[in-house]
Amino acid sequence: MAWLVEELNRHIYNYHVLDAPTIPDAEYDRLFVELQQLEAAHPQAVSNDSPTSRVGAAPIPEFRQVTHAVPMLSLNNGFSEEDIENFDRRVRDGLDLQRVEYNAELKFDGLAISLRYENGVLVQAATRGDGYTGEDVTANIRTVRVIPLRLLGKEVPEVLEVRGEVLMFKADFERLNQRQRDAGQKEFANPRNAAAGSLRQLDARITAQRKLRFFAYGVGLLEGAELPDSHSAVLDWLDRLGLPVAKERAVVAGCEGLLGYFRSVGERRKSLPYEIDGVVYKVDKVADQARLGFVSRAPRFALAHKFPAEEALTVVQAIDVQVGRTGAITPVARLVPVSVGGVTVTNATLHNEDEVRRKDVRVGDTVVVRRAGDVIPEVLSVVLERRPEPIPPVYELPKSCPVCGSHVVREEGEAVARCSGGLTCAAQRKEAIRHFAGRRMMDIEGLGDRYIDSLVEANLIHGVADLYKLTLDDLLKMKRLADEREGTTPETVKQGKVATKWADNLLEAIRASKQPPLERLLFALGIRHVGESTAKTLADWLGRFELVRRAPAALLRVLPDIGGTVAEAIADFFAEEKNQGAIDALLAAGVAPQGEHAPKAQLREKLDEVSLLVALDIPKLTEPRARQLMAEGMSLDKLAHLKVFNVFGLPATVQAALEEWMAVPANRERLSALSALRQELLAELPEAAAQPEGHLSGKTFVLTGTLPTMSRDAAGALIEAAGGKVSGSVSKKTSYVVAGAEAGSKLAKAEELGVTVLDEAGLMALLNK
Ligand code: IVH
Repeated sequence: MAWLVEELNRHIYNYHVLDAPTIPDAEYDRLFVELQQLEAAHPQAVSNDSPTSRVGAAPIPEFRQVTHAVPMLSLNNGFSEEDIENFDRRVRDGLDLQRVEYNAELKFDGLAISLRYENGVLVQAATRGDGYTGEDVTANIRTVRVIPLRLLGKEVPEVLEVRGEVLMFKADFERLNQRQRDAGQKEFANPRNAAAGSLRQLDARITAQRKLRFFAYGVGLLEGAELPDSHSAVLDWLDRLGLPVAKERAVVAGCEGLLGYFRSVGERRKSLPYEIDGVVYKVDKVADQARLGFVSRAPRFALAHKFPAEEALTVVQAIDVQVGRTGAITPVARLVPVSVGGVTVTNATLHNEDEVRRKDVRVGDTVVVRRAGDVIPEVLSVVLERRPEPIPPVYELPKSCPVCGSHVVREEGEAVARCSGGLTCAAQRKEAIRHFAGRRMMDIEGLGDRYIDSLVEANLIHGVADLYKLTLDDLLKMKRLADEREGTTPETVKQGKVATKWADNLLEAIRASKQPPLERLLFALGIRHVGESTAKTLADWLGRFELVRRAPAALLRVLPDIGGTVAEAIADFFAEEKNQGAIDALLAAGVAPQGEHAPKAQLREKLDEVSLLVALDIPKLTEPRARQLMAEGMSLDKLAHLKVFNVFGLPATVQAALEEWMAVPANRERLSALSALRQELLAELPEAAAQPEGHLSGKTFVLTGTLPTMSRDAAGALIEAAGGKVSGSVSKKTSYVVAGAEAGSKLAKAEELGVTVLDEAGLMALLNK
């Protein structure tokens, strides 16, 4: 049993801390079961550091109080360069030194914890509490895989209290919230809250399901061993004992060294897998630390250099709505200006009606606003104690569009309410034109917001095609109106001189935009759910605008990375009469995509009838059923004309669903049209080229998230060149999921199904094998 405990703990360390397992998972599981059986037979011999205790103990009524042998103090904070200069000066004065070496490390945004090891075995874990007494969370901490139950090495101290931070990685937090959402449970506001909520669970079995992590940053009580003489060496020592210590640390000298570290971490902050709220500087020499000592509850030898706050309190002055390109109505809080993370914020999005309700934001409320990185500031929550009297009314979204007066409608199952005015709504028209003319779309230089507003308000353009009909006179009229409205009419104009060079340039820019690459035109049209990458997929695979326009949703769906919602949105867009008119007008005005080409040769493989049939989304008709039908000699075309359904041996419910679907004439037409288009495409596509043979033949990959050094397309091409296949969705048949940063549901699915997940380096290793 002792051997098994040691062996298993070693593998847990290799797997969770070093990320380098040395045995297959199945072998680990086998050893684990063996230990479990022995423990069941010999309960008196169960050891304190047995990995079987990591699954979580039964709930307890409350946490026991623990007194810390060495108090858990806090850190003084610094924000400005001046604060850091002052800190360094105080340290130099206190030590009477010219230049001081510091260990600079990350300030983890989690919860402080103290782990007590006696003779190398974890015996107690306690939260910080008030710094003097905390709560006993040993059972919960045991479930955190990266925390060793027994320290590594032969020479372990009699007593070692390790201080560090428990936190949750950003990706694990996203996954947890997804699970909470799926289960209809409350989501956590941020990884810190999620970590705190998970650790302070009276039922350790719940903690065991949450993926918590830990980084050690110091030592409390130490008995029976000598502490290394510098803090950096202490961290190295903790690392050797098998405790996780973040690699992002450095020994630096002087104030410039500290500031340099701060800046360099600031640049890398976003790409760290966990959240930090600053960095911590600690005088490196332990003897010097002792000489400096403490002031009240914080050490003089250390300082937390915090990033500017990304959250702040302010008051909601009004709630307005904005009308987007697709008519989406977004409530926006107008705020008393407040500085958040160094930027003045006056507006914050409230996302949609449900969000306003959920947060119950009302005019006059004091709210927490958050500005994270480059994203639009948002209202996080209301400080209810500060709600004014008399209590302001609950916010209601307007019933009609504030711009055009059309009805605001919210379709069932949609979070977003929309103005029903379409392109009759000036706001939507402006946004549509703004989008169309954008740099990554048709790239019409010089057509900025101000001109677009005037063109629409002067009724000179109604749709994007009208841009191509504008004359010099139109532009001059527009400018005159804009200047009058804003009172910016130049003196020269008042004297009767009219500058026309800018207008000539603008007309030229409009003319020059007439031949965009197909993907840009597709992106410019502003089809819902079609961003740059989907537009590129459409252009690459279908090659011609004409084909994209008439491709039914089922065909679009078999293209890589295009799911049901997106496929429907594209097909719906092109089916809509108003859009057809707008597109015809564009083409008539001379807009013609450049470099159209035949559909991609690989489209042939995507056109197998089983996939297309599944893509039609016929209720209950799953892939095995579709396969069964085709094996019985069916085809899309035959199916379109089928009269009797009880000859395929399909289960009664499937057969009934199919019959019901086929009873709708439009569905039969859909089948025929799909089949006809398939035939047409197959006739045009080159005969199937032999799939390149390679060592990845027969393996299916799914790519998700942002890879560090290459695009997903590039990675896909490498996989295909090695004989592998790339698919858009994860299933049991997927061999590998290659996940980059911000990988979401596909990664979660892979983990759920136990599909092997690789990062880019793992993929490269596989390719180079
Ligand atoms: S040292 C005596 N190092 O910040 C100093 N603290 O305000 C003890 N924290 O509650 C703290 N990262 O949870 C230290 N690298 C780090 C830290 C860190 C995060 C937290 C810690 C403590 C708070 C101090």
